[in-house]
Order: sequence, then structure tokens, then C-alpha cells
Amino acid sequence: MTAFNWRCEAVDGRARAGVLETAHGPVATPTFMPVGTVGTVKAMTMDAVRSTGAGIVLGNTYHLMLRPGAERVRALGGLHRMMDWPGPILTDSGGFQVMSLGALRKLDQDGVTFQSHIDGSKHRLDPERSTAIQHALDATITMCFDECPALPAEAAAIAASMRLSMRWAARSREAFVQREGYGQFGIVQGGVEPELRAESAKALCEIGFEGYAIGGLAVGEGQELMFATLDVTTPLLPGDKPRYLMGVGTPDDLLGGVERGVDMFDCVMPTRAGRTARAYTERGTLNLRNARFATDARPISPDCDCLACSRHSRAYLHHLFRADEILGPMLLTWHNLAYYQRMMRGLRAAIVAGDLAAHGAALRAAWAQGDW
Ligand code: GUN
Ligand code: ZN
Repeated sequence: MTAFNWRCEAVDGRARAGVLETAHGPVATPTFMPVGTVGTVKAMTMDAVRSTGAGIVLGNTYHLMLRPGAERVRALGGLHRMMDWPGPILTDSGGFQVMSLGALRKLDQDGVTFQSHIDGSKHRLDPERSTAIQHALDATITMCFDECPALPAEAAAIAASMRLSMRWAARSREAFVQREGYGQFGIVQGGVEPELRAESAKALCEIGFEGYAIGGLAVGEGQELMFATLDVTTPLLPGDKPRYLMGVGTPDDLLGGVERGVDMFDCVMPTRAGRTARAYTERGTLNLRNARFATDARPISPDCDCLACSRHSRAYLHHLFRADEILGPMLLTWHNLAYYQRMMRGLRAAIVAGDLAAHGAALRAAWAQGDW
């Protein structure tokens, strides 16, 4: 069996290129993890996901515990078997998803009681239960159960929330069943307050995890504050462990995150955009519903080898979206994930070549340039 381990292969400034070794195979980092909330990367077969070069996908405790239920997933052979993804899977703990339920949830020091968004039934999550559910799902990487406060908020409220998350992190660690090749990540909180981020990072390092996530960002603070928070946070995390920026982001956010020493990202952006006709490309985004694409015989991107770009025109995709055909979201999700994975491979190659500054400048210039 392989031990869970992140091995650094190259450093360029603060950026790192490495390999994450897990029970379910290796992942080259920096990496983007497609989101498979309910056990499917929406509109994609897992062969299609694999073909884009994705090495690890995400699942969600909150959604899977409600439907089909953690015990059902376990009975079906675990999440890997159920969704036919033998590679590594990271599951989020449910804290963030429960937070977005708003009035349907009630927080106390021990955990959260909430009502299902599906049928209104009452449920409870706490660090022990969240960790046990992720074990039942057979998550390769288990996340600590945390609370993610919405920004902006008073510093005192952010501090109290962060300290609660740190107590929950200790309980999550206690509840985690160590297995060869499996890992658990702590989640740094503390809003955009540098002292609170430092206190949180220190608390998590004292507990000790296989990796460290940075949570509580991309919640309305803006890119400048997010980058400033990364600048003060990543230097406080162990150099020999993977770092994961949760729920981020645009291609430009990913580049800025990698430049600041982040190794892993996840976001619904490429998949959600793919279902709403928005294409990510080397030259920025295109809205394929726009009338100017009705007669455009070119592929979405001349640099892309996805199914949409190798076989179909922009005009065909335009038609599929206008006609509300299900193939539109399928092809464009494929394309967007292919773009994200291609961009991450490019960043990794640039780090290995010691060329990230020039590579990043070229990416930004091309995004700003606009469509071909
Ligand atoms: N996804 C995006 N941000 C967060 C966060 O702060 N915590 C958790 N658990 N998931 C997230
Ligand atoms: Zn493509």
C-alpha cells in the first residue's frame, strides 16, 4: 500500500510542483478538482472526466448523506465504486453547505441541526458524524467539519467562529480513522484578519494533519483581499504538506493561488458555466448563446483537443443551447474542464521549468486580448 504523502518536485518563487500519493493513485499538483457534489460531475461520464486529465474529484457529505444516504453508498461499494471513479476522491465535510441553508439551520457549540433542502426532514451534523460519514463514503481525503462565516462580518464574530472551527478540527481529528493512503485536511479560517489566520494555522499545525485547506475565502471579499489573505496564510503552513484553497475559482484566481503556494483547488465554475453556455478559453470567456456565434464555423478554442473542439463548431454549440438540447451542456462542460486541466498542466510545467512569472504574464495578456 502507498502511504499518503505529498512530494515536492520543483519550486518557483512560492509556487510548488509536486505529486500527491494516495491509496487511490497519484495526483500531479498543482491540481484542479472537478466538483461531483452528489456522486456525479454534472453532464459528464467519468470516462469524459478522465479524458480531460483530471486526477481527483470532489464529493459532498451534505448532499450524499441526504440522498442516497451514507449507508447506501457504503452498501454500493463506496463512492469510488458507485460513481466508477477509482482515483482519489476528496469529500467536503458539510459545514460550508449547511451554512448556505440560512434559516433552515441552527448552530450550537456541539454541531449544527438543519432541515434537508430536499424534503424538509431534520438532520444533525457535528465533527464526529461528518467524519464518520466521510469514512462510510470511503473518501480518500476527509475534510474537517468547520463553520464558514459569510463576509463582511465583525472581527469578533469571525474570531469566535474560527475558534469554534478549531475546536471542531480537534474533534474531527479524534474521530478520523487513520488508514494507509488516506488523509485528513484541517481548514484554516479567520476571514481576512491576518492575526486570526495566523492563530488558526497554528492551532491546526499543533493538531497535525496530512494537508491544510484554506477556507472562508471567495465569499464576497474580492480577489485583492483573497490574495492578501493567501499571502499571510500559506507561509504559516508546513512546506512538506499539500495546501488546498477551497471553492476557488476563475482561471485568474487559480493562477494567483498557485503563485502564492496553493496546490489544490475546486470550484463549480467550469461545470456550472458549461451548463449556461459560458466557455472558458485561452482568450477569456465566450457566451455561446450570443448571436455572433450563430454562423461561426470555428471550434471554441483552436488550442483544445476536447470532443467539442475536435468535432464541432461554435455555431453547432450555439444551436444546441438555443434549442435547449442536453448535448450543449455536455459538450461545453467537457470543454471547460479540459481547459481548466490544460491550464493546470501548463502551470505545473512552468514551475518545473522555473518559468512561472513569464508564463503567468503570457496567460494574463492572452485573457485580456479577447477572442481570436
Ligand atoms: N468550500 C468553500 N469554502 C469552504 C470552507 O470554508 N469550508 C468548507 N468546509 N468548505 C468550503
Ligand atoms: Zn474544447
